[in-house]
Amino acid sequence: MQQQELKKKIAELRERLPVTIVAHYYQRDEVFELADITGDSLELARRCKADEREWVLFCGVGFMGQSVKVIAPHKRVAMPRIACCAMARMIDQQCYDDSVEFLEKHGIKESDVMPITYINSSAEVKASVAKMGGMVCTSSNAYKIIEQGLESGKKILFVPDRCLGQNIANMMGLRSCVIGDGKDPNKADIICYNGFCSVHQLFTVDDVNFYRKRYPGIKIAVHPECDPSVVAVSDFCGSTSQLIKYVNELPEDQKVAVGTEYNLVHRMRDKNTYVLSSTKPECPTMNETTLEDVYNTLVAIEKNEVPTEIFVDEETAKWANIALERMLAL
Ligand code: 13P
Ligand code: SF4
Repeated sequence: MQQQELKKKIAELRERLPVTIVAHYYQRDEVFELADITGDSLELARRCKADEREWVLFCGVGFMGQSVKVIAPHKRVAMPRIACCAMARMIDQQCYDDSVEFLEKHGIKESDVMPITYINSSAEVKASVAKMGGMVCTSSNAYKIIEQGLESGKKILFVPDRCLGQNIANMMGLRSCVIGDGKDPNKADIICYNGFCSVHQLFTVDDVNFYRKRYPGIKIAVHPECDPSVVAVSDFCGSTSQLIKYVNELPEDQKVAVGTEYNLVHRMRDKNTYVLSSTKPECPTMNETTLEDVYNTLVAIEKNEVPTEIFVDEETAKWANIALERMLAL
């Protein structure tokens, strides 16, 4: 089916169905333009919880749809694609338990650890974190959540993104290490799991140097999933919505190179905005969702036979919700 035809059929279906279409900023343009609600992971979690329609059709990656189901279990959540964020896939229950064991082997007791998981993780990992008294954060509130976590006087175990954990530690002037880097975790305030986002690893110090030389005076703005070496030479580091705000508030003639996902940077502003990479930094899983998938999911919702409906078992959902609610409460 052609795009125009698909859009028409999608419009007809959504007229008669109790469905809210939700899209993360990294979605392809044609999917993003359809959405009733758009935002970064924190905004989407909050707004989906408050939404009143029976169905959420979530265009994003698996942990995002799963988080909606956890915080709003009365809602039915369908994803056009159960696309799994590569970083979230780097940690499962076993890897989490192994990380706690690693700390114990170094003489750091479970009761002396405050775990914090980035929202880019499975409900199982969120549940394990909650059981140890910890909570979830997103890139928008990681600073605040870690600050809060530190008030417990405990060491922070930060999973799964080593870059976000290290970047926040650097911003706070704290010591960090990464499990497996050979450093003594006793000497760190924030101990990071060794996960990362392959898309945000594409941005390098060489890219920053290239743009600064090519366009003297250019600003460099990056997401905190970028390597700490890149953040150190940038002018601004912020989450998806913080990057949008930063770029929007720059004078029109101020050039800026942005280190985050391509679809978002591409739609930021027409002039003087560059993608901080010679490689197109597209998130493969975010880009899996197509208009056709959205159409097929609406048809499935109408038939009430949705193969990609999200379910989370009750016990996992109960604990994962505690970790998410601790974050939302802050
Ligand atoms: P945000 O929390 O900024 O939406 O980021 C989610 C993500 O997956 C970034 O790569
Ligand atoms: Fe996951 Fe990276 Fe894609 Fe974000 S950009 S969804 S962290 S793989």
